[in-house]
Parts: sequence; structure tokens; C-alpha cells
Amino acid sequence: MDRPIKHARKQLGLAIDVIEASGKCLNPVTLKSDGSVYNCSYTDWRSGFFPGSVWYLYELSGDSTLLPPARKYTEAIREAENLTWHHDIGFIINCSFGNGWRLTKDTTYPAVIIQAAKSLSTRFRKQANVIQSWNVDRGWMSQRGWECPVIIDNMMNLELLFEATRLSGDSTFYQIAVAHADRTLTEHFRPNGSCYHVIDYNLKDGSVRNRHTAQGYAHESVWSRGQAWAVYGFTVCYRETKDLRYLNQALKTFTFMKNHPAMPSDLIPYWDMDAPKIPNEPRDVSTASCMAAALYEISTYNTSDASSYKEYADRIMNSLSSSAYCAALGTNGNFLLEHSVGSIPHNSEIDVPLNYADYYYLEALKRKLDLEK
Ligand code: GLY
Repeated sequence: MDRPIKHARKQLGLAIDVIEASGKCLNPVTLKSDGSVYNCSYTDWRSGFFPGSVWYLYELSGDSTLLPPARKYTEAIREAENLTWHHDIGFIINCSFGNGWRLTKDTTYPAVIIQAAKSLSTRFRKQANVIQSWNVDRGWMSQRGWECPVIIDNMMNLELLFEATRLSGDSTFYQIAVAHADRTLTEHFRPNGSCYHVIDYNLKDGSVRNRHTAQGYAHESVWSRGQAWAVYGFTVCYRETKDLRYLNQALKTFTFMKNHPAMPSDLIPYWDMDAPKIPNEPRDVSTASCMAAALYEISTYNTSDASSYKEYADRIMNSLSSSAYCAALGTNGNFLLEHSVGSIPHNSEIDVPLNYADYYYLEALKRKLDLEK
């Protein structure tokens, strides 16, 4: 996997050159329909991924010239520690400051992680035992009639809470993470192991009002990235608690995807496994890279078939590192991977690069290297 690392160093190096030449702290997310790069502000759920990718690239390449940009792009989104109007602060702060803390032990980073966990905890709704994902007074979310929507993606925000308990000694964050994971385990999954995207709770008595989708094809369909969020999120919960129910759910959801009759032979899923025009539907590379990162971690746990998870992740990584998905140097807006999908129901970001696909690809590369050392 030497070649993908060298290629990633050069490609993201070009993105860093563009940012540095601009004199601003740009935060690249994707390509717009006119071919230009879309850069986000710190409030966007994707603002931690580019800083996080630079941290991973620093770790993978050992190139210390990447440290100053990693620090600078991380600092640029510090204000996100105070975000309370959506749940994605876990993605934002954990991928940026979390990786920075892991790699440098910069003593100013724990305070940011703890403050972010406090902000995320303000969204905990005791009656339902969940962290509310979205507010219902904004944009398209206000049109859906929801009261307390929780999306499966929210499992990805829990890692921040576990880390904040380790750093602060305050077990409240841990308890909120476990409560959220337990309620999600009960409500989000179908008997076959696949999960719903959105569960809407009643704020007064905590009961379920709706089982919906937002970014999938239909309420009862299998939105692929949601399955990857579930596998990754419950794997983290197992890592942090050693509660086998979490690992078993991650394995069940992965097995459902692996055995799905529509899964393509290169293992890059369709954006929704029930999309009506399969095989003429867009793939979603972000699902594949997130799944690969989770599977490498799963392969380190004591399961009956541990090596099969690594083998499956290796096959995903071979596909992603091939010219079918990995962009040539200097193309694709300097993003690494092509062919991801943001949200087809919102007609947004279809068959484009996405910075989170790149982030989980680099994380998976690192995990693969560690396993093969
Ligand atoms: N968390 C939003 C998404 O997966 O698109």
C-alpha cells in the first residue's frame, strides 16, 4: 500500500498548496456542478474531515511538513466546540482535534474535546434516552413533521463523548453515549440487520413516532451509508464498553450488506441497495471507505471469523485504490476518490468526490498498515 500513500501525499499536497496560496483557511468538501471546489465553514458537519485527513496523511507519510497545516486547519474550526444546534459536533471535533490529540498530545486540545462533548450533551433528551440529531425548525427538516429526529449517523458522534470522559473523568458523557447506543440498538434495526435512517421520537413520553428516511430511496429501503455508520458506530461502542451486543449488531449489519444480492463484485455499494434502477444507479464510495475502516477494527476483535473481515476490507481497498475510483493526480479538485453520493432525494452531490470518503479511506489505509506490520 506504499503507492496509495505516496499518491495521497501528492494529491492532498496539491489541495494544501491551493489553500495556502489563497491566504485563507479554506476547508474543501466536494466539487460543485460547475467543477469548482466547495469549501465549508466550521458549522458544516463535514468541517473536520479535511483537517483530519491531513493528520492521517502526516501519520501515514511521516512527513513533518504536514504538521503545521494540520494544526492550522484544526485551529480554524475550534469555534465548533460551542455548536449546539445540530449533533454533528462529534464528527467535526473528533476527526480534527481528536486526531490532533492522539498524535501530538497538544495540551490545548483536551479542553476543546471536553467543551464539544458538553455542547453535544445539551441535545440529550431524557424521555427518549437519545441525543437529538436535527432541530425541526430549519430548512427541509421543518417540513417533515418530526418532533425529535435521530439519524443512524448519530452513532458516529459518540466517540467524542467516550474520549471526553477519559479526558475529564466526568462519566456523564459516557452514560449519555451508552444510553443513546442502547436506544438506537432497540429502535433503529430491522430483523434482517439493516437499519432505518431516521427514528422520530415523542419528546413527552419517549415513544417512537415515525421510522423514516431522509437520504435513502424509501422509508423501508437500505440507505447504504447509514449501514456503514451503524457498523462503524457500534464497533466504536464495543471498543469503549466491551458490550458484546454492540459488536454483534455491527457484525449483523455488515453481514446483511455483504450478502445483499445487489452488492457489486468490486464491493462498492449502490447509494441505496433498493434503488429502483440498479445496476444503473450511482455507487457510494463514502460507504465503502467507512465500512473498510470499521472492518479493519473488527478484525482485531475475538470473533469466529476475524480474518474474513480484513480480507473483505482489503478487497474494498483494492477497488478504491484502483483507477476506477482513485482520481489521477491533479484531477477531481485534488480530492482522492471519485464517485460518492451526498443525497439523491435532495438532488445534492451525486457522483462526486466527498471529503469524508477520503478521510475514512486514509483511516482505513492506516489501520491496514498497522495490521500488516
Ligand atoms: N451525516 C450525513 C450523511 O451521511 O450524509
